[in-house]
Amino acid sequence: MATAQTLKIVKATVPVLEEYGTKITTAFYQNMFNEHPELLDIFNETNQKLGRQQTALAMTVLAAAKHLEHLEVLLPQVTEISHKHRALQILPEHYPIVGQHLIGAIKQVLGEAANDDIIAAWTEAYDEIADVFIQLEKGLYEEEMWKGFANFEVVEKIAVAADIVAFTVVPTKDNRNDGQDIDLSKLTLTAGQYITVKTDPQHSNHLALRHYSLNATTTDNGIQFAVKRDNRDGHYGLVSNYLHDELQVGETLLLSAPAGDFALDKALIHQNDIPLVLISAGVGITPILAMLETQVMANPQRPIIWAYACQNRDHHAFEVRVNQLLEAATTVEKNIFYFDSGQLLDNNLLANLPKPADIYVCGSMPFMESIISGLTALEHSSDSVHYEPFGPKMSLQIA
Ligand SMILES: Cc1cc2nc3c(=O)[nH]c(=O)nc-3n(C[C@H](O)[C@H](O)[C@H](O)COP(=O)(O)OP(=O)(O)OC[C@H]3O[C@@H](n4cnc5c(N)ncnc54)[C@H](O)[C@@H]3O)c2cc1C
Ligand code: HEM
Repeated sequence: MATAQTLKIVKATVPVLEEYGTKITTAFYQNMFNEHPELLDIFNETNQKLGRQQTALAMTVLAAAKHLEHLEVLLPQVTEISHKHRALQILPEHYPIVGQHLIGAIKQVLGEAANDDIIAAWTEAYDEIADVFIQLEKGLYEEEMWKGFANFEVVEKIAVAADIVAFTVVPTKDNRNDGQDIDLSKLTLTAGQYITVKTDPQHSNHLALRHYSLNATTTDNGIQFAVKRDNRDGHYGLVSNYLHDELQVGETLLLSAPAGDFALDKALIHQNDIPLVLISAGVGITPILAMLETQVMANPQRPIIWAYACQNRDHHAFEVRVNQLLEAATTVEKNIFYFDSGQLLDNNLLANLPKPADIYVCGSMPFMESIISGLTALEHSSDSVHYEPFGPKMSLQIA
């Protein structure tokens, strides 16, 4: 527990550090990667190049410092981040490295203004915050379905929309699996979770890790996920292009075990008076499709409202599978929107949703911002609205 003196100093200096946020994070990453180039195999190179998400880590430390005497209020946010850390295989021994360079960057940017008392207080605060993460992650490591990154073989690769490819992978059966004997039939997959791939794309000097949501929870054929080719504004997405163009059936891929706490509310799956509302756009359909499958297999009687938006018919992903599942459900309302035809998933749909409802949303950042803000304005309680951004949650701007 931090001393009263530490709390006082930390709280007084948070606003100053927030003001210098970008300078501190830039110095932090530069110094850390100079001394520990091996960490470039863990951090997202594109995020670093674009300066994107760079502030997430340091800004979260500052935000946490504001709540130092009752860090438990941050548990939901810390849990989500810890799932990502576990998926990326961040270990306790990484924390002192980050701590040393974060405090070093504070010293470097504030100069003489950062006296010994300030540095001592921030060191104590960081250690306390890091310990919360390390303890939570310890629990997640104990539960992980397999250890670290294990080798899987691609057994199927099929296009499910104009720019989306679905993969089915199975554990390799020899010592290429680091000695782990993963039994597919014994894995219990949860809809909403994601696996993490570790790849070595030709176009990069580093390994590259990315998360992909499971699009099914059944493991009869293997573990299933789907990837959109992510090229925006003439730029090239490193891993999605590698998975589309380079990785072929019969080849292997390293995967860490499913992670994430985006999941159906178990208490409501058999509650037929509270409908399940599934809203997605583009490749955001992946975790939502797994949720639809889980619901229909467990209780097809529960009313389901399905809303899916994409560019046009060619980009409509998993249409056949979704229709099969919806046909197996008793009460269904289905809404499809094609942007190219001027159909927008707008406030009309949201305004007509029943209340209470159990709502799950996944899509691009702007799509999520608009839908979540709309649902909030319509006074759907935050407990009833669940969402998974395909990027850092803290960068979502919810009105
Ligand atoms: C929890 C979670 C679940 C996810 N699930 C899925 C899923 O099921 N399916 C899926 O397809 N994705 C999913 N994602 C997203 C996925 O992890 C990757 O972020 C995505 O595939 C892009 O990775 P990439 O390496 O191809 O692109 P990156 O190299 O990381 O680039 C990202 C974007 O930046 C653009 N870019 C690159 N360089 C520049 C530049 N110099 N200037 C401007 N822009 C640039 C690229 O074109 C690309 O659009 C998920 C993400 C999370 C966090
Ligand atoms: C108390 C210390 C830490 C805090 C507060 C923190 C916070 C965060 C946050 C907020 C994110 C973004 C999560 C999201 O996508 O929603 C993140 C991602 C990440 N963190 Fe941490 N983190 C800490 C320690 C570490 C350590 C010790 C490492 C490893 C050296 C690490 C490596 C990563 C990586 C690789 C990502 C993914 C982002 C990317 O690749 O650019 N973090 N962290």
